[in-house]
Amino acid sequence: MPDRKFFVGGNWKMNGDKKSIDEIVAFLSKGPISANVEVVVAPPYCYLQYSREKLPSNIQVAAQNCYKEKEGAFTGEISPYMIKDVGGTWVITGHSERRHVIGETDEFIAQKTKFALEAGLGVIPCVGEKLEEREANQTLDVINRQMKALADKITDWSRVVIAYEPVWAIGTGKTASPEQAQEVHEKIREWLRKTVSADVADRTRIIYGGSVKGSNAAELAKKPDIDGFLVGGASLKPEFLEIVNAQG
Ligand code: G3P
Repeated sequence: MPDRKFFVGGNWKMNGDKKSIDEIVAFLSKGPISANVEVVVAPPYCYLQYSREKLPSNIQVAAQNCYKEKEGAFTGEISPYMIKDVGGTWVITGHSERRHVIGETDEFIAQKTKFALEAGLGVIPCVGEKLEEREANQTLDVINRQMKALADKITDWSRVVIAYEPVWAIGTGKTASPEQAQEVHEKIREWLRKTVSADVADRTRIIYGGSVKGSNAAELAKKPDIDGFLVGGASLKPEFLEIVNAQG
């Protein structure tokens, strides 16, 4: 069975300034950070280079989104090539706030994901259901639809980390239970096995996001199909280190 290196992303969202970034850099530099974990933080665009230059080399930097073209008349957008140019190695696509606040479609997210991979970035596509979809027993229908849009475009999965983020757990303090998260992660892996290949299913890391805290990360990390986390609020605080080291 291929070894899936634990992966922890910190999505800073629209938060921070140079002073608060310096405070985050201080606790991340102090650590400790296990060598068995791949750690990526995602600052707001305007602080990507600042963060990259301040952070130690064992922490990678991601953008929180990107566009699906290299350059051009796309006001307000950034290109995967610009992310690379300032030292970024990853990008998040399809975060639920891009889907449900900004209105991005499955197809648009898949196009961005494909383009960012072709540009040489690692990509963290996010999938997840809303509360009303879970309550209507539509969770797997939603996840499968979102995964199909991605799989129709992705040809090389080696730099893809799937983030399962139930929308109802994001920023709410209502973390999915380890059993709830494991159930969906297992279904995503089964879907990959059936639809893409056994090798992709075994190798692709599937990480959980939605109110991950220092207090709940270790229990979640014990589940066989939870290969890491995508952390919002807690990634801005020193407890992020507890989450990074949750595997013990
Ligand atoms: O991308 C991670 C984020 O959506 C989770 O946010 O604050 O619930 O950890 P939070």
